Amino acid sequence: MSTIFVTGGAGFIGSHTCLLLLQKGYKLVVLDSLINSSKISLERVSEIVFQKYNSERIKFINGDIRNNDLLESIFNDAVLNREEFEGVIHFAGLKAVGESVSYPLKYWDANVNGSITLLKVMDKYNCRTIVFSSSATIYKKTENNLKLTENSKIKPSNPYGETKYVIEKILNNLFRFSSSKWKIASLRYFNPIGAHKSGLIGENPSGIPNNIFPFITQVGLKKFDYLKVFGNDWDTYDGSGVRDYIHVMDLAEGHVAAMEYLFKLDEKNININLGTGIGTSVFDLISTFKKVNKIELPFKVVGRRDGDIGYLVANNSLAKSLLNWEPSLNLEEMCIDGWNWQKNNPNGFQN
Ligand code: UD1
Repeated sequence: MSTIFVTGGAGFIGSHTCLLLLQKGYKLVVLDSLINSSKISLERVSEIVFQKYNSERIKFINGDIRNNDLLESIFNDAVLNREEFEGVIHFAGLKAVGESVSYPLKYWDANVNGSITLLKVMDKYNCRTIVFSSSATIYKKTENNLKLTENSKIKPSNPYGETKYVIEKILNNLFRFSSSKWKIASLRYFNPIGAHKSGLIGENPSGIPNNIFPFITQVGLKKFDYLKVFGNDWDTYDGSGVRDYIHVMDLAEGHVAAMEYLFKLDEKNININLGTGIGTSVFDLISTFKKVNKIELPFKVVGRRDGDIGYLVANNSLAKSLLNWEPSLNLEEMCIDGWNWQKNNPNGFQN
């Protein structure tokens, strides 16, 4: 049974991926600073898979990826226990776009310095297989409503996106110039929403949600009176913004598929879009959510959000062909599962 090191594994995407990795038989060591996540997510993951906390299969460490000594001790322990990591899934990082504009250095430090520290320790301990959480936010904004391929132009429009792109570049450099063989997959996420069917884990943003889906579920809870729709004058099929929403479990499947794809190879560096390839407007998201959950969802159309774009949808053919991966959960399931999580956990992981 091989062991995977997961950074940021207690977060939204991390916890769903940990669940799947455990179900597939992997052992996990998870490092998370818990600044934007809760350890309870992993306890619940373990309960879902094993009906109890299974410390044999999932070991949690509270800490920061910038802590070189801590990382070295984790990798060293793995060697001593004869459980060297077969690969790393690297989720840890800050991800609020607005905050990154206000505090760019905080983002460069956490995301870029953190990744460099991690990569140095991986290299030292001869663990050179990594799946990295990148983002579709790195693509250049376009006016034409064309699906983005991995070769579309890159031009991040905020520090958060810049840090994701720079980490991809660092990984590229390692692959091209290092004397050792690296196996690297940078996964460019589109818009992950939904939650695991159990309703025990899900997205748990702190403060006012920036993204539309957690905002919708909190309007559903009546924490907010209505959703603001940012513009109905975009060049899209109904004027509202179009995005590629992907169920977080399909996204998790993409990580496992990418890791197992790398395991089979000798060396590789690849960037892969993870989206469904289906564009959904804000109005369609609202009406689907209302229909399947049978709840009211008041909204008001307001002006466009600064820096926003009308259309962002993946061409996902590379993921399908290379990873033999196919998203299987539709928008209705995303809305049902996301609401199931939120209504059962109105305060997230806090009681
Ligand atoms: C945003 C970030 C992106 C980040 C991603 C993480 C911006 C400009 N982009 O992407 O960098 O990687 O989140 O998931 O912040 N909307 C509303 N009302 C709301 C919130 C959003 O109408 O209260 C609309 C937006 O205009 C957009 C769609 O909903 O059309 C999705 O927005 P959001 O969930 O914020 O995601 P992105 O803009 O795709």
